[in-house]
Amino acid sequence: FVAAALAAAALIAPAVAHAACDDGEVVIKFSHVTNTDKHPKGIAASLLAERVNKEMNGKACMEVFPNSTLYNDNKVLEAMLQGDVQLAAPSLSKFEKFTKQFRIFDLPFMFNDIKAVEAYQASEAGQKMLDSMQRRGLQGLAYWHNGMKQMSASKPLLQPTDAKGLKFRVQSSDVLVAQMEAIGGTPQKMAFSEVYGALQQGVVDGQENTWSNIFGKKFFEVQDGITETNHGIIDYLLVTSVDWLDSLKPDVREQFLQIVAEVTATRNQESTAVNEAAKQSVIKAGGTVRSLTPEQRAAWVEVMKPVWAKFEKDVGADNIAAAQAANS
Ligand code: LMR
Repeated sequence: FVAAALAAAALIAPAVAHAACDDGEVVIKFSHVTNTDKHPKGIAASLLAERVNKEMNGKACMEVFPNSTLYNDNKVLEAMLQGDVQLAAPSLSKFEKFTKQFRIFDLPFMFNDIKAVEAYQASEAGQKMLDSMQRRGLQGLAYWHNGMKQMSASKPLLQPTDAKGLKFRVQSSDVLVAQMEAIGGTPQKMAFSEVYGALQQGVVDGQENTWSNIFGKKFFEVQDGITETNHGIIDYLLVTSVDWLDSLKPDVREQFLQIVAEVTATRNQESTAVNEAAKQSVIKAGGTVRSLTPEQRAAWVEVMKPVWAKFEKDVGADNIAAAQAANS
């Protein structure tokens, strides 16, 4: 009977192996929404779990739930505040209910590349933002990089006017709603796990995302093509609850935060290469990739950039200036 039960359990076991936590170990559940492989966040989350489970054996135990198997991003922060999950890494676009400061990361054409994003995050203003939600019970631990966003649709997008009248899926961010309206599109906020189906069924016509997400969730299969716009970024906040972090014994907390810092530094260095590889995988799998001439790109900048003014009060003119300085 035991053997049969074990076999049955193995059959229904989730694809990701969960570390069996021992009695007395602090259990750290990490919920996220992307793939585990060929993805900057998925790889970093797996490495974090591997190191915690090895180096903190007997003290702490981490279980990773990828691919929205535990929570969507719109539920995970509430679950965290209730103590049902201890770690998440939603994109910076998904914190609107908690802070408007992160809106700077969604403003189109704000950052030239992920190096600039990193420089801004490392600045005093960026580091302060890690603590900006403490009053609401959330503590930012680190910024994790993904990469630059590209646009895709059910028809070729070369000029911004090509986007007129199309429905676009956006993350739950009012900046991204304004950005899609600026190009004459109709934005629709939607959970990441629903995007493939929505594109396939024509609920929406297009979307914007990084190469690793476009490849990982196969969006290219249900789109005419992807235009390399590099018009924005997706980056993450590795986040936990203030209460949970405070509840840890000082030596456990210190060791955990040290591992977080090391994994962050190691994997952030690789994020651009991971996305470049994902782009090549899209091409290899038959996806169409279009690039823009300098004139075409300038037209997208011209139409999208006025969105900045709308959100300047939320993010602060001085922060915009600091972000721009990070581009040089
Ligand atoms: C999205 O919703 O498109 C992304 O934030 C998903 C992710 O975590 O990269």
